[in-house]
Order: sequence, then C-alpha cells, then structure tokens
Amino acid sequence: MMKSALFLSALAFFSSTKAYTIPQSKRTIDIVGKSRNSASHYSSSSSSSSSSYSSDYSSITDAEVLNYALTLEHLEVAFYTQGLANFSADAFAAAGFAAAVRANYDEILSHEETHITLLQSVLEEMGADIVQECTYDFGSVDVASFIAMSAAFETVGASAYSGASELLSDRELLPAASSILSTEARQSTWIQSTVQHLNPWSGAFEVPLTPNQIFTIASNFIVTCPSSNPPIAATHAFPPIGIPTTAAPGASVQLSFNLNETSASDLSELFVAFLTSNGTIFEQFSSSDSYNVTFPTQEEGLLGTVFVLIVNSTTEAVTDATTVAGPTPLMFPFNATDPQIEALFPN
Ligand SMILES: *[C@@H]1O[C@H](CO)[C@@H](O)[C@H](O)[C@H]1NC(C)=O
Ligand SMILES: *[C@@H]1O[C@H](CO)[C@@H](O)[C@H](O)[C@H]1NC(C)=O
Ligand SMILES: *[C@@H]1O[C@H](CO)[C@@H](O)[C@H](O)[C@H]1NC(C)=O
Ligand SMILES: *[C@@H]1O[C@H](CO)[C@@H](O)[C@H](O)[C@H]1NC(C)=O
Ligand SMILES: *[C@@H]1O[C@H](CO)[C@@H](O)[C@H](O)[C@H]1NC(C)=O
Ligand SMILES: *[C@@H]1O[C@H](CO)[C@@H](O)[C@H](O)[C@H]1NC(C)=O
Repeated sequence: MMKSALFLSALAFFSSTKAYTIPQSKRTIDIVGKSRNSASHYSSSSSSSSSSYSSDYSSITDAEVLNYALTLEHLEVAFYTQGLANFSADAFAAAGFAAAVRANYDEILSHEETHITLLQSVLEEMGADIVQECTYDFGSVDVASFIAMSAAFETVGASAYSGASELLSDRELLPAASSILSTEARQSTWIQSTVQHLNPWSGAFEVPLTPNQIFTIASNFIVTCPSSNPPIAATHAFPPIGIPTTAAPGASVQLSFNLNETSASDLSELFVAFLTSNGTIFEQFSSSDSYNVTFPTQEEGLLGTVFVLIVNSTTEAVTDATTVAGPTPLMFPFNATDPQIEALFPN
C-alpha cells in the first residue's frame, strides 16, 4: 500500500482535533458475533466477482422481492425454533427472565411462521417459484446471547422491509409488506424495551437497507441454500467488516476487512460510513494503512442500532455502488429506565 507523508501529516491534524473519553456503559454488541473471515457462506454464481453483480434493482421482479423477504423469514423461524428448543423455561428462569418472556418468544415464532404462510400464498397466486429453507449456523450459546441476537434480527428485519418497499411494483402488495414491517418493529420494541430494559427505538427513523446490504448481514448465519431455489432480490454479499467488541462511541477502533472489491489503492481513498437513525456520519481512517478509525460520539449520533460500512464516496448517499465492505450492525444501547425518563411518568 502507498504511504504519503503529506497525507499522513494532514490526517494527523485531522485526528488531533478529536479527543473523547469512552463511557464504559456504552459498549457495543456485534451481532455478527463470531465474525467469520470469509465473506459469505451463500453460494451464488454472482458472488464470485465484484463486477458480476448488479447494484441496480430496477429489473428486480416482485417475486424476487417476496422470495427475498421469505428468505429472511425462514432465517428468523429457524433461529426461534432452535433457540426455543435449546433454552427451556428453566433456562430462561435461571437467566432471570419471567416465564412470560419465553411465552412471548413462542408467540413471535408463530407470527414469523404466519408471515411465511402469507408470503408463500402470495407467491403461489403469482405462479412464481418459491424459495425453500437454507441451513443455518447461529451459535447462540446462552439465553442472554439468544435475546441479544433476537433484538438484532428484528431490528435488521425492520430495516430490510423499509428498504425493500420501494422495489415492489404492485402497489397492492404494500399493505401486506408494511403490516409485516410494523410487526417486526413491535417485536424489536418488546425485546429491547420490556426484556432488555433498553431503548425501544434508535431515533425517529429506521435505517432502510438494500437487499444486498441485508444479505451481507444474513449470510453470516446462512451455511447453504438449496441450489434449486429461485433468484431473490439480493444477489451479493459484500466482504464483512470485523469490529472488536470493545468498540465504543468516541473510541479509536481497529477494523478489519478485505480490500478486494474496490479499485482503491489505499485506505486514504476510503471512508467509514455509520448509518444511524438520524442520518449518515462519515469518518476517515486515522492513516492510510492502519485500519483504525475514531468512532463518532453518542452526541454526534452513535445511538441505538447503527450500520457500519466501508465506502468510497462521502458525496453520495451510501448505495451498493459505493460500498466496499459491510454493513456490520452494531447496537449502542441507551436506557429506557433512565431515572430522568421515569420522573416524567410518576405513578
Ligand atoms: C474477497 O474476499 C472475501 C473474503 O476473503 C472472499 O470471500 C471473496 O470471494 C473475495 N472476492 C473477490 C472478488 O475476490
Ligand atoms: C441451538 O443449539 C445447537 C446445538 O448446540 C446450536 O448448534 C445452535 O446454533 C443453537 N441455536 C440457537 C438459535 O441457539
Ligand atoms: C490502532 O488501534 C489499535 C487498537 O486500538 C492500537 O493498538 C494501535 O496502536 C492503533 N494503530 C495505529 C497506527 O494508530
Ligand atoms: C467506487 O467509486 C467508483 C467511481 O465513482 C465507482 O465506479 C465504483 O463502482 C465505486 N465502488 C467501489 C466498490 O469501488
Ligand atoms: C440529527 O441530525 C441533525 C442534523 O444533522 C442534528 O442537528 C441533530 O442534533 C441530530 N439529532 C440527534 C438526536 O442526534
Ligand atoms: C440503565 O440504567 C440502569 C439504572 O440506572 C443502569 O444500571 C444501567 O447500566 C443503564 N444501562 C445503560 C445501557 O446505560
């Protein structure tokens, strides 16, 4: 990689303008958890080279969008089915959760199963081929990690439906799609608020994500899909970004990712994009070869669920065309049981 003295001194100035302390309570949860080094376990003929997938969704069909949604619902159903089989009522009680918590997870599972039935019946009516389940590897090891992952899946699900709605050409499909979206958001709210006693939302908006961005996240948990599955709206998983679990707002964080999908010759041509509920924040790497970046502070907007990407432009909105790696979702919990908030609602 090329090193430029001029560049380094300019960045030294840039980074010296930032000095933040790291609040210990604002630790992140990396939902990709064990963060594998390979980009994707999904085998797709279009995932082998950066030039052979299209970042343009204009020719995507409604059946491909619905099969994409169905792929995500299958993943959620597999996650809840396995998790509820793995963790008994006693395990939930031992982890400090009321019996109603596990019972509500049963209900969430049945709602996700109903979403599958609905999507399958719409696809059937269209005469379209229907995707079958894949095999998965979630690796949740205890009730607490199951709950943390469930919060992330529901939040990512809301981002998936938010981003996919514009791809549907038949407006009559929108009420069904948006009623699934709002249910995913309610589930996410219940988990974060009632179960985790944390923030029920990230801000005024969900972050809408493209099918390929969502698929980059989902592919961390997908081992293999039936080769007979029809195409879905997502065709490509971007290289993953490894983020240490110590990452926190205001901290200097060392990222890891593969540069193979960009023509950039070094990190000086790339940026870290943080997609937050309140908009996108771009940061530069601290030098052209260190992979270190100073995370924005909570006050600057690193709050709730945030998606981290490596991009090659700060002048355009983050799209598949400017994405080099990621997204990796991070959750920066904030408190729903803050005494200041409770004071607003005296008994
Ligand atoms: C880029 O790197 C990832 C991770 O090492 C690998 O899985 C992927 O196939 C590579 N892509 C290309 C286009 O070489
Ligand atoms: C359930 O347990 C199995 C066996 O340990 C494990 O492979 C799987 O990832 C677990 N799934 C969930 C969602 O906890
Ligand atoms: C990058 O960050 C790591 C971990 O925070 C730190 O140990 C290392 O010294 C940093 N490297 C540079 C070049 O700043
Ligand atoms: C980066 O920028 C160039 C020029 O705007 C663009 O053609 C390219 O597709 C972008 N994406 C990547 C991943 O390099
Ligand atoms: C949201 O962004 C706007 C403009 O970028 C900023 O003025 C405002 O303070 C931000 N709000 C929060 C809650 O971060
Ligand atoms: C939320 O508030 C409680 C009680 O004040 C505190 O113990 C906990 O650490 C806080 N959690 C976060 C994420 O700030």
